[in-house]
Amino acid sequence: MNIREEQSGDVPEIRKVHEEAFGQPQEADIVDKLQRNCNDLLSLVAVTENKIIGHILFSPLEIKSKERTVQGMGLAPMAVLPEYQRQGIGAGLVREGITRLKSQGCPFVIVLGHVEYYPRFGFEPASRYRIQSEWEVPDDAFMILMLNQSEMRGVSGLARYRPEFGSRP
Ligand SMILES: CC(C)(COP(=O)(O)OP(=O)(O)OC[C@H]1O[C@@H](n2cnc3c(N)ncnc32)[C@H](O)[C@@H]1OP(=O)(O)O)[C@@H](O)C(=O)NCCC(=O)NCCS
Repeated sequence: MNIREEQSGDVPEIRKVHEEAFGQPQEADIVDKLQRNCNDLLSLVAVTENKIIGHILFSPLEIKSKERTVQGMGLAPMAVLPEYQRQGIGAGLVREGITRLKSQGCPFVIVLGHVEYYPRFGFEPASRYRIQSEWEVPDDAFMILMLNQSEMRGVSGLARYRPEFGSRP
């Protein structure tokens, strides 16, 4: 399995991964919209034998603090084809994404997701930092990974995803 950045021509296969993993088109639609509207994405695919079996997308997300606004990235959506799940492919995508974002100077990553899954990568409840979601979501499912503690010192407030996510990611 190899992880690389999305290339032109990958769009239909990425769509299929999301549709099969989620069993509905909504997440694939969000990916399509973000790909059309936003130049600042990190989009990684997991490939085996020339077939895309997993995809992860990171898009810009802002936390509006009283004094300043800080931009980081939101992890969403991520999917692995059902027949390839539970083999570490999702973990590989998350880790590669985090490594790349950290080296680019991204100060934080936010995810709204499975409480049993994301803490293994260092995510913790965003409420610990008084960072809230714009949606009503379970407190522990809204998580943040701090990549630059000093830049994030004192930052709290509302975290806003791109409008393409609509009512929630
Ligand atoms: C979530 C997902 C991307 C994980 O990919 P993966 O390649 O199976 O992940 P890994 O092999 O790295 O890790 C497997 C772990 O994922 C966790 N996991 C997978 N699906 C889960 C679910 N629906 N609920 C809770 N935990 C889940 C399990 O804890 C599992 O841990 P284990 O190995 O101790 O059993 C994949 O299961 C998927 O596409 N699911 C459907 C879409 C989805 O829910 N996406 C995430 C929300 S954006």
